[in-house]
Amino acid sequence: MQHKRNIEIAPSILSADFSRLAEEIEAVEQGGAGVLHVDVMDGHFVPNITIGLPVVKSIAKSTKLPIDAHLMISDPGQYAAQFVSAGAKMVSVHVEADANLHRTLMSIKSAGAQAGVVLNPATPVSAIEEALQFVDYVLVMSVNPGFGGQKFIQESVSKVRRLRQMITEKQLEVRIEIDGGIDRSNIETVVSAGAEIIVAGSAIFGTTDPKAAVEDLRAATVQWV
Ligand code: DX5
Ligand code: ZN
Repeated sequence: MQHKRNIEIAPSILSADFSRLAEEIEAVEQGGAGVLHVDVMDGHFVPNITIGLPVVKSIAKSTKLPIDAHLMISDPGQYAAQFVSAGAKMVSVHVEADANLHRTLMSIKSAGAQAGVVLNPATPVSAIEEALQFVDYVLVMSVNPGFGGQKFIQESVSKVRRLRQMITEKQLEVRIEIDGGIDRSNIETVVSAGAEIIVAGSAIFGTTDPKAAVEDLRAATVQWV
């Protein structure tokens, strides 16, 4: 019997049809998504530009799902709290992008949201050892950030396992989120390694039935829930 855990599917709207965004969000909501993952990119920290504050603000008004803003931007401390004001309930920033990480995390928390720190594939778990006590969750990137539809980096599984061990040793209440290349073929592996918030973009919005895709991914994690 597995330990009872709170596993949530977090559809990434990056792969959604933006001209029908409300419908797409409604579908994943009906499928049982736990949070809505929103990828914010600035064309500087990552080689792509996506969406920002006004879109988060509109979505927050039209969905019951908590918004999880993943900030792939340089100098995130300048904007993090503004995403909370726009309606995000979770905001994560990259450790590689922030020289004042503690201050940024505190600004997210004092604005009233959960604070997360993100690790790129080549960034070691040790880079956030000290920050771990100040975060609500850690997002492990299992692709290089910037685009949807990339191939899952297999080494991320042992990284999640090592991070889970570090959290347990420190007796902290920190959740692990994983993002990039997750689908029906690898979701059980990442959940059994210790991930609890599972981001999926193309595996959900790249299908003809996003509602069913969320249901499928949830069904795959049922033994842990
Ligand atoms: C990549 C983004 C991801 C992306 C995931 O930079 O952070 O959230 O949308 O998409 P898939 O699931 O297609 O890899
Ligand atoms: Zn993301």
